[in-house]
Amino acid sequence: MNTSYITTPIYYVNGSPHIGHAHTTIMADILKRHRRMRGVSVFMTTGTDEHGQKNQEAAAASGLPTMQYLDRQSGEFQALFDRLGVDYDFFVRTTHPYHVQQVRHFESLLHAKGLIEKKAYQGLYCTGCEQFKMENDLSQEGRCPDHPSLELEYTDEINYFVRIEDFRPWLLEHLETNPGWLQPERYLNEVRQMLAAPLEDLCISRPKSRVSLGVELPFDTDYVTYVWFDALINYITNVGWPDKDEFKWWRNAEHLIGKDIVKTHCIYWPIMLHALDIELPERVSVHGYWVGPGGQKMSKTLGNVVDPVEVIENFGVDALRYYLAKNMRTNADSQISVDLIRQTYESDLANNLGNLLSRVVKFTASRFDGKVPAPSELHEDDKALRDDIVARMTQAFEKMDMHTIPNSLNRIMGAASLMNEYVTAQAPWTLIKEDGQLDRVASILYAILDGLRLVAEALYPFMPSSTDRILAVLARPPMSAESAMHEFTGGLLEPGGRLGEAVILFPRVEV
Ligand code: MSP
Repeated sequence: MNTSYITTPIYYVNGSPHIGHAHTTIMADILKRHRRMRGVSVFMTTGTDEHGQKNQEAAAASGLPTMQYLDRQSGEFQALFDRLGVDYDFFVRTTHPYHVQQVRHFESLLHAKGLIEKKAYQGLYCTGCEQFKMENDLSQEGRCPDHPSLELEYTDEINYFVRIEDFRPWLLEHLETNPGWLQPERYLNEVRQMLAAPLEDLCISRPKSRVSLGVELPFDTDYVTYVWFDALINYITNVGWPDKDEFKWWRNAEHLIGKDIVKTHCIYWPIMLHALDIELPERVSVHGYWVGPGGQKMSKTLGNVVDPVEVIENFGVDALRYYLAKNMRTNADSQISVDLIRQTYESDLANNLGNLLSRVVKFTASRFDGKVPAPSELHEDDKALRDDIVARMTQAFEKMDMHTIPNSLNRIMGAASLMNEYVTAQAPWTLIKEDGQLDRVASILYAILDGLRLVAEALYPFMPSSTDRILAVLARPPMSAESAMHEFTGGLLEPGGRLGEAVILFPRVEV
């Protein structure tokens, strides 16, 4: 059987989960559910990155004992992902003993290979990125472009380093010979550029005197591991490295990441793996940023932060999943606000999909005793509609990766629009008043109800709970009970089956 291992970044716990965290984790869930329906066996992980300076500072500021703070914060992420219906297989915490132990093992192996050296280093450090910054990484104002409000810290200390420059030609070659490895293409160019000049040695430690929240180095107890070095290793400890059995998942690993962490994932991480002769992940997929209306960075001061929990409470989980899946663009940042979410919710979910279901189910209830109408034969137009819907769903499902999620979703929702137009054009409510048209009306309704079933099935990766609610109305078993290979087949709705109540799937929301 084909396998797939999907990872999200692991999130810093110095604050509450935000829309960016919700986004990548939902995309991972969508891809997982989609692949499972295509017959692929999937393992998906997400989790929290709990070491390093900024977590340490946040823990100290909270007044709680460090571990208690980390438990609380990590729990908040896990609770949000559970609420969002994310079907992860493993939630990693970098404070887990197994992870800690294997990070140390990783370092011992590197050490034994003679790849680690100790030396003095002076440089500017950004706690926001948890990274040293070079002169040419800085903005004109001499600040970190991603964290302009933070003061860079001048650091002069002795640390452990890995010489990564020696791996540069190999990595360039890898990128050239594996063009699909990093997507989309624009980030590949970015990485090529980063590799145009010699690479600075990678600092892999912090003296405990400055940062104590971390994995102690196996060969020097005065130091902890640099947080990024520790965090990246989660991708292999999640699947049991160095144990051979579980590590089988690694072969088809795909990392989903945001655009700000391309360097760590596409330069440091491959080199770390290659240094120990571990295969590289199959691919890295990068998404852009969510920004406020007008393209402004979201910030508390501007008051344009979209809180995932608030969105869920007002509009429901599926409204958030839908908005994020529909609107992340490939080559630019994407805008989000509560108002934009509301507009999409009303037009796409309430008016297009929800309304269609409730109109048709109500009509069936009043004219066909609430049972799926049984036409003696499906009319030609209805058959054509069915074929069109099946073709759309099949196409939407054929090949979907993180970048084509919006396309696939639009194709599926296009079928709902098509059915709305069809009902309006065929006007079954008028037709039923004419003599001898009952069978024709039954055929129209059957085509729409069965079409809604197909759309509901196809929406499963995106909005699993709405799918199951629609299927319940259509007297079909829930998709969540099924995980086997799925084919889109027209005409599976059983004539005579009793429909459920015409529930309002997406009720009007007053905020
Ligand atoms: N802990 C590191 C990742 C280690 S992975 C081995 C980290 N954590 S983070 O919490 O700061 O960010 C995690 C992810 O959130 C990144 O992929 C980042 O791109 C994403 N986002 C942060 N803000 C975002 C938006 N406004 N929009 C979309 N994603 C954003 O980095």
